[in-house]
Amino acid sequence: MDKELVAQGISKRYGRKTVLDHVDLAVQPGIHGLLGNNGAGKSTLIKILATAAPPSQGSVQYGTLQRPRNDHQIRQQLGYLPQQYGLLEHLTAREYLLYAARMKGGSPKSDVFSPDKWLRQVGLQDYASRRIRGLSGGMKQRLAIAQAMMGAPSLLILDEPTAGLDPDERVRFRNLIQEFSREATVLLSTHIVSDVEHIAQHISIMHRGHIVAHGSPEELANRAVGRLYEIMLSTADWEFQRATWMDRHELTHGVVAGIIQELGGVRIRLVSDTPPPNATPVDEPGLEDGYLVCTTLDLSR
Ligand SMILES: Nc1ncnc2c1ncn2[C@@H]1O[C@H](COP(=O)(O)OP(=O)(O)OP(=O)(O)O)[C@@H](O)[C@H]1O
Ligand SMILES: [Mg+2]
Repeated sequence: MDKELVAQGISKRYGRKTVLDHVDLAVQPGIHGLLGNNGAGKSTLIKILATAAPPSQGSVQYGTLQRPRNDHQIRQQLGYLPQQYGLLEHLTAREYLLYAARMKGGSPKSDVFSPDKWLRQVGLQDYASRRIRGLSGGMKQRLAIAQAMMGAPSLLILDEPTAGLDPDERVRFRNLIQEFSREATVLLSTHIVSDVEHIAQHISIMHRGHIVAHGSPEELANRAVGRLYEIMLSTADWEFQRATWMDRHELTHGVVAGIIQELGGVRIRLVSDTPPPNATPVDEPGLEDGYLVCTTLDLSR
């Protein structure tokens, strides 16, 4: 079965405000990352793809199923983690996953709907009998991820799944999602580049209601080729100029991509369309550099 998720010409307006403007997106089996700054429109697009909101215009298709006609069938194959969700706080973690299994129409006795299996997958096995209101924010997030993955849906849509996870849990999540994606189509949104840099086969970058770029992590990193520079400043110069340096250079020479304090001074990394004075070109940009190019520089070049 063709399991591609395809959105075409999606627009979303709230009153006179256009939040999505003719967005096209094709999500193939494997992991697809949706990257964008706060307010870019990621959650709005995700809600439309996850059958949780109607578009003002445009079409969504999953395999041969179409929105809104086949919403019910799409939901039967969908696992969804909204950015904002409510958990039943008075239940224990295990009770909640039992409830989720029932809601999805599965038997908790089967492996893919087993609450204990999913508690283990997200590292909550020791908290199975703890009431949700007594769990930390990151633990609640892991429980919500378990809920979305439960039943092994063929389409998994996660909106900011790593929000609130500590570094160990981020690594665990990446491994889990990679394993999961071997037999599923996974779309996940984030504004944290490193969340998707090493696990997504495809990434779409959203900016102000548009998809401004898409490609493999490597292709997107390469957008910064010829646009990435470094400037070395002595610690004394940096201390003297730091209050105004960033503003001056961002206005005239692109965007600061990083500031690294070193023993002999400060190394400032910039993405810019024109070579800044006293700057050295840098090879081998990363995805974060490419992302900055796509979301901040004039892309008409
Ligand atoms: N119900 C609504 N009514 C009016 N405007 C809305 C509504 N929902 C979202 N917006 C606006 O749409 C824009 C995109 O919001 P959205 O939540 O999709 O962004 P996002 O990329 O998910 O951001 P974040 O990274 O902060 O989660 C924002 O300007 C937001 O204020
Ligand atoms: Mg969002």
